[in-house]
Amino acid sequence: MAHDTALLTVDGLKATYNHAITALAGVSFTLARGEILALLGANGAGKTTTLKAVSNLLPAERGQVGAGTIRFEGLDVTRTRPADLVRAGLVQVLEGRHCFRSLTVEENLISGGLGRGSTRTEIAADLEKVFAHFPRLKEKRRALSGLTSGGEQQMTAIGRALMSRPRLLVLDEPSMGLAPIVVQDIFRTLRHLNREEGLSILVAEQNSAVALKYAHRATILENGITALTGEASALRERDDVRSFYLGQKAVVPALAS
Ligand SMILES: Nc1ncnc2c1ncn2[C@@H]1O[C@H](COP(=O)(O)OP(=O)(O)OP(=O)(O)O)[C@@H](O)[C@H]1O
Ligand SMILES: [Mg+2]
Repeated sequence: MAHDTALLTVDGLKATYNHAITALAGVSFTLARGEILALLGANGAGKTTTLKAVSNLLPAERGQVGAGTIRFEGLDVTRTRPADLVRAGLVQVLEGRHCFRSLTVEENLISGGLGRGSTRTEIAADLEKVFAHFPRLKEKRRALSGLTSGGEQQMTAIGRALMSRPRLLVLDEPSMGLAPIVVQDIFRTLRHLNREEGLSILVAEQNSAVALKYAHRATILENGITALTGEASALRERDDVRSFYLGQKAVVPALAS
């Protein structure tokens, strides 16, 4: 696959919270245009902090970037306001499928287009596109989001992000709390968006099995440091990746006496 130019470059990133707690101590990776890159790691490894840094959302969480650079195309991310990053095409779906619970599914989606400043005609066209990718949302368009299922809320959150016409879609644990069949459905749709529309995707996941199935490459974080980056197909084969870096159950060999 020819991924020629870098869309996002994170280099030597260090970050703290409250100027005290070290969350990232050296994170580096490059996401090429047209790529799906998975960001993997156990609990507390620094996935969410990395994603928030990429959208310049750390200051809002009392977080600080202490060293390193983040570039999205020509932009120096730490010097660009979050809203300007969205306008430039870097759009994030935060963990926990945030949608407005008291708005309908359709109203939630439209709010994504309004944030970008889309015209009515653009919003109508984008809405139909989102419904084509997520037929479930079309059926539920008039339902209050708070009354839809977890999977439908995650789809709404992704659809809302799509309404702002991203070039890089950033997702924090889209699989969280969802049934395996719904998770596969969501990742299949993400792959489709990547293949058909050239959407680049950065996705943080604890569910490494599903992430490695759909991503092209993966970066593994361990205690706030990039431990390993490689092709997803190669990482899938490696047992040590699952047991060692991702904190998942592995068969512990009996101690030799
Ligand atoms: N708002 C915060 N204030 C202080 N410390 C934080 C805050 N958010 C995260 N941390 C700490 O920063 C480190 C990295 O956390 P982060 O949430 O980025 O990890 P994660 O890989 O997303 O974990 P998880 O898989 O549980 O979502 C952890 O030690 C965590 O306790
Ligand atoms: Mg997290």
